[in-house]
Amino acid sequence: MTTIRDVAKQAGVSVSTVSHVLNGTRFVEPSTEARVRTAISALNYRPNSIARSLRRRSTSTIGLLVPDNSNPFFAEVARLIEDIGFEHGYNVILCNSDGLPAREAAYIDVLLSKQVDGLLTISAGNHPDFLDAVLKAGMPVVVVDRAADEWPVDQVLVDNETGGYVAARYLMGLGHQRIACIAGPRAATPSARRLVGFRRALDEAGIALPDVAVFGGDFHYNGGVLAVKALLDQYPGLTAVFATNDRMALGAISALQRAGLRVPADLSVIGFDNIPQSAAFFPALTTIAQPVEALARESLRLLIERINGSAAAPTRLNLETQLIERESCAAPAVALPARERP
Ligand code: RIB
Repeated sequence: MTTIRDVAKQAGVSVSTVSHVLNGTRFVEPSTEARVRTAISALNYRPNSIARSLRRRSTSTIGLLVPDNSNPFFAEVARLIEDIGFEHGYNVILCNSDGLPAREAAYIDVLLSKQVDGLLTISAGNHPDFLDAVLKAGMPVVVVDRAADEWPVDQVLVDNETGGYVAARYLMGLGHQRIACIAGPRAATPSARRLVGFRRALDEAGIALPDVAVFGGDFHYNGGVLAVKALLDQYPGLTAVFATNDRMALGAISALQRAGLRVPADLSVIGFDNIPQSAAFFPALTTIAQPVEALARESLRLLIERINGSAAAPTRLNLETQLIERESCAAPAVALPARERP
């Protein structure tokens, strides 16, 4: 394997000159730099990144842990973090925990051994015990999307409760009163907080939300399909459904259509996330959009500040969501008189 000494010999310079050209740590005469770069490409020299990182105590690499990279929401967040990370000179190692805490812990071991400069994590559940190992190792870390309330770390979250509240108010504003909710996994804090906001809006308007009107889903398309079958059976007269993520909302629409029901003519459906597929679906999904660009950018900003030595107290951001009105919601087939609407 070609070494830095081979490059120095080929270019007729010292090893330290080659190092200064590679790391930009000192001015080198342009003609000398040109000879060094010619030798590097002629010998196909690749600096030893581990050795370089030991000298510079930086690998210019960030670890990103997500629960399900097949979910378009996480795929979009990961892509944005990768693009913005590159803008700041960082490579990103994407790890998919598949929602399994044991796999999360395994990946944390890998990232610690690779001495990544910092970690962005969207944990599988709301008890990210692996953070203990990360903090003990002194690795900069930012929690993204899924809160880790009791941990003294930076967190970039979304105001999920207000998002759920807005979804309920939107449906009630159309005249719906028999509304159901397809919730996500209990361990996922965002879904739990969306349901809290959703329930609060109904309570304020004096609208019931019986237990049979809340289905425990899994954030997957099929979770929406199973939910519709249960809700149509257990909650007759249902006119609208709030799914706490778009994948379940799209699954629900598909199941309703297969059951011979029209969306929104017979039943309205609203989601949460605003994944790219939602705008292309038929009918296009009305949803609560997550600020994915801001989520990625703010997470990286805080992490890079930590990597650069910031000792500020932990920051907790709560980014706003936005209602995106499309085609999947309408007034119920039998509308209440306007005076009775909340
Ligand atoms: O669709 C996946 C869900 O889990 C999103 O709503 C996101 O908030 C994540 O927590």
